[in-house]
Amino acid sequence: MEKRICTIERNSPVAPGCLRMSLTAEESLLHRCGQFVEVAVPGQYLRRPISVSLSEEGRLTLLYKVVGKGTAALAALKPGDKLDLLTGLGNGFDSSACRGKALLVGGGIGVAPLLQLCRDLRAAGREVSAILGFNTAAEILLREELEALGARVTVATMDGSAGIRGLVTDALQEAGADYDQAYVCGPMPMMRALYPLLPDASEFSLEERMGCGTGLCFGCTVQTTEGPRRICHDGPVFKKTQLPW
Ligand SMILES: Cc1cc2nc3c(=O)[nH]c(=O)nc-3n(C[C@H](O)[C@H](O)[C@H](O)COP(=O)(O)OP(=O)(O)OC[C@H]3O[C@@H](n4cnc5c(N)ncnc54)[C@H](O)[C@@H]3O)c2cc1C
Ligand code: FES
Repeated sequence: MEKRICTIERNSPVAPGCLRMSLTAEESLLHRCGQFVEVAVPGQYLRRPISVSLSEEGRLTLLYKVVGKGTAALAALKPGDKLDLLTGLGNGFDSSACRGKALLVGGGIGVAPLLQLCRDLRAAGREVSAILGFNTAAEILLREELEALGARVTVATMDGSAGIRGLVTDALQEAGADYDQAYVCGPMPMMRALYPLLPDASEFSLEERMGCGTGLCFGCTVQTTEGPRRICHDGPVFKKTQLPW
């Protein structure tokens, strides 16, 4: 874990209520895709956890949804403003666990960390399919970015305004995805619905309200098959076999 002060380069809407923030970073602030940063939000006591969506030379990109006071304060920040981050948090996805074809499944803002994961998998020569679920076409995130990396993307929308009508589980069955390793990030009900459909080696990135974000307060503890585990410290990524669902 390291504390960094980064400068905001861009902070602009990409879908209703969702923004992409890019920050200058002298070096890569990510050790593994799927890690998160704890952002010090002006006017808020507790930092807010946000996944690293992409980490490139000199730049860190976050994708976030405005849901309350903290994320609203983030949305009000302007290019040139400074942001205090704790970086390198969480275990992240194990992209090296995929030896053949990867399937990425994301729902809503949960698609954020799948971009770096897709980049790492493609750099390792893996074939990638992605199933992304949203309520409606206007909310679609990262489809073009994932396609530009060479992923085969299937979208599911609840209202049928784009792609397959229904849930990612419907898309999984309709698309007949062919894969060796699956990676999932999204709302809990989505992950629980996917759980019985995916192989044991699948990785799920969990979300919980966090206090410290660094393993000290035990506020984010969940029950696993190996006993209680802290999402911020032992996760956020857990293998299917660790989840007692
Ligand atoms: C490891 C991790 C990675 C995350 N990555 C992202 C990301 O990439 N992009 C993004 O937009 N959000 C992400 N989140 C969720 C994000 O941290 C919360 O949305 C944010 O902290 C809300 O702060 P707020 O002050 O705006 O809302 P608050 O005023 O604190 O809460 C507003 C509403 O959001 C709910 N909420 C708050 N925190 C969470 C949470 N952690 N999980 C689920 N619901 C929550 C509350 O129950 C409440 O209904 C992540 C969370 C975790 C734990
Ligand atoms: S949020 Fe404090 S231990 Fe995870």
